[in-house]
Amino acid sequence: MSGLVRFGVSIDGQLAKKFDSLIAKKGYGSRSEAIRDMIRDSLVDQEWEAESQETVGTITIVYNHHTRELEHALTDMQHKSFHQIISTLHVHLDAHNCLEVLVVKGKSREIKRIADRLIGTRGVKHGKLTMTTTGRELV
Ligand code: NI
Repeated sequence: MSGLVRFGVSIDGQLAKKFDSLIAKKGYGSRSEAIRDMIRDSLVDQEWEAESQETVGTITIVYNHHTRELEHALTDMQHKSFHQIISTLHVHLDAHNCLEVLVVKGKSREIKRIADRLIGTRGVKHGKLTMTTTGRELV
């Protein structure tokens, strides 16, 4: 269906109050825009559940580059997944710590596997996979 669709939502008064306070904090101009974003977020979650659908994400990792063999292990893993890792940003945070952001594209199960391996590598202090979307299925 295309074009604008209007629908009414009946919810508990307390819940509506909490919702209005939440969206005000987040800076939404209207309930409609907040609800549209929530729907899109759920659709992106669904995209990631469909394991064979192509999707996009970023993997962020923080590590100490002095940790023995760590940089070598991380680079080796990234070369093995060169089809999915389409771009990398490296920032030297201080004399010891590095931040890397990897842009990944591919089937969700492949991306999750790459993220788990990188984040689970000994010496990686923190890591996070952000699951977003190619945007093709969203309006
Ligand atoms: Ni560095």
